[in-house]
Amino acid sequence: MRFLATFGPALVGLAASAHAASINYTTVKEYFLQDESSTDASTFDYTAVNFGLINRTYPADKDINSPQTKTQWERFYHQVLTLNKDSSQDVEYKVLFLGRHGEGWHNAAEDYYGTPAWNCYWAELDGNCTATWFDAALTTAGMGQALVAHNFWQKEINEQHIHTPDSYYVSPLKRTLQTANYTFTGLKLPHGSTPFVPLIKELFREGISIHTCDHRHSRSYIHELFPSWPIERGFTEKDELWNGVTAETSAAQDARSRKALESVFFSSTDPKQNTFVSVTSHSGEIASILRVLGHRAFSLNTGAVIPVLVRAEKLAATPTSSSLSWTVSPHCTAPPVTSVSACVCPSSAAPVTIPLVWNL
Ligand SMILES: *[C@@H]1O[C@H](CO)[C@@H](O)[C@H](O)[C@H]1NC(C)=O
Ligand SMILES: *[C@@H]1O[C@H](CO)[C@@H](O)[C@H](O)[C@H]1NC(C)=O
Ligand SMILES: *[C@@H]1O[C@H](CO)[C@@H](O)[C@H](O)[C@H]1NC(C)=O
Ligand SMILES: *[C@@H]1O[C@H](CO)[C@@H](O)[C@H](O)[C@H]1NC(C)=O
Repeated sequence: MRFLATFGPALVGLAASAHAASINYTTVKEYFLQDESSTDASTFDYTAVNFGLINRTYPADKDINSPQTKTQWERFYHQVLTLNKDSSQDVEYKVLFLGRHGEGWHNAAEDYYGTPAWNCYWAELDGNCTATWFDAALTTAGMGQALVAHNFWQKEINEQHIHTPDSYYVSPLKRTLQTANYTFTGLKLPHGSTPFVPLIKELFREGISIHTCDHRHSRSYIHELFPSWPIERGFTEKDELWNGVTAETSAAQDARSRKALESVFFSSTDPKQNTFVSVTSHSGEIASILRVLGHRAFSLNTGAVIPVLVRAEKLAATPTSSSLSWTVSPHCTAPPVTSVSACVCPSSAAPVTIPLVWNL
C-alpha cells in the first residue's frame, strides 16, 4: 500500500488574529503597466520598461516649468506629492517598490526535485548533502539577479533622476536580507536622499509553511550578518511563528500583511514626505500584499521589482477581531516513490504531520 500525500487541509486551533480593516487600500491605476490586465506578468521585464511606468502626462505637470525637460519619473514623483498635498489628513499616497529576492537554494531544489516531491518531503528537510535550504541563502544566480536590480536602480538614478526610497523594509529571511544588501549597498544615491538602512520586519516574511526555507535564523544571527541594520522592536530571538507542523492559510497571511502595512502607512511624523517605500520580500508575501492593496494578481520572477501606487484611507469603523486558523500539512517521512503529477509516499512511510527536523 502506498499513500498519496494530498490530504485535504485540516483546520487546527493555532490562531492568527484578524481584525476588520481600519485602513482602506486601493491601487491607483493608469500609472503602471503592471496594473493593466493586458500586461503578461510571466514575460514582464521591469528593467526593459522603466519599472513599468507608463509614458503619459499628469494633471500636476501644469505646475512645472517646461515639463518636457523633466523625466517621466521626475514628473511622476511630483504628481504623487501633489496627490498627497491635495488630499485630507486621512488619505495617504505611497509608492511601494515590491522586490522579490533572487533565486535561493530552495528555489533551485524545488526545480531539481519537482514541486510535488519538494512539497511532500524534501522541503521538510534542512537540505541534502550538498545544499542547505533551511532559511535558504541566495545561489550565485540569485546574487546575479540582485546585481541586475542594483545596476538598474543606478541607471534609473542617473538617467531618470528617480526619487529613491524614503524608507526601506526587509523580511528577516536570509535570502531577502542578502538581496536588499546587494541591490542597495553601494548605489550612488541622489544628493539629499535617505541612506539605505533597512528596517528588518518580521511580518514581511514569506508565507509560513512547514518548509524549512520559511524558518528564520535567530535574531543574533541576523544581527551578526548585518550589524548596522535596525531590527524592529519586539523581534524575538528565536522564530516563534514557524513550527514545522502548521501552515498559514491565505486568509491568515493576508491579515498579517495588513498588519505589516499598517506600520508603514500613517506612521512617520511627516508621513506625506515618506512617499517612496522599498519592501524586499517574497513571491507568496508579495502576492498577499497585492491582494490587500486590491492590485490584480501579478507574480514576480525571482529578483524582480514592481512599484505600485497605493491610496490608503483611514476608516472610521472600529476594528473587530476574529481568529484565523492555520492548517496542518501531511508529508512523507522518506523520499516519495513518485512525484510526476502528485506525491506518493513509500509504503513504509505514511504521511505524518510531525516535523522531520527539530531545530527549534
Ligand atoms: C475604499 O476606497 C475606494 C477608492 O477610493 C472606494 O471606492 C471604496 O468604496 C472604499 N471602501 C471602503 C470600505 O470605504
Ligand atoms: C517612453 O518614452 C521613452 C523616452 O521618451 C522611450 O524611449 C520609450 O520607448 C517610451 N516607452 C513606451 C512604452 O512608449
Ligand atoms: C541537492 O539539491 C541541489 C538543488 O538545490 C541539487 O543541485 C543537488 O544535486 C542535490 N544533491 C544531491 C546529492 O542530490
Ligand atoms: C553586502 O553587499 C556588499 C556589496 O555588494 C558586499 O561586499 C557584502 O559582502 C555583502 N554582505 C553580505 C553579508 O552579504
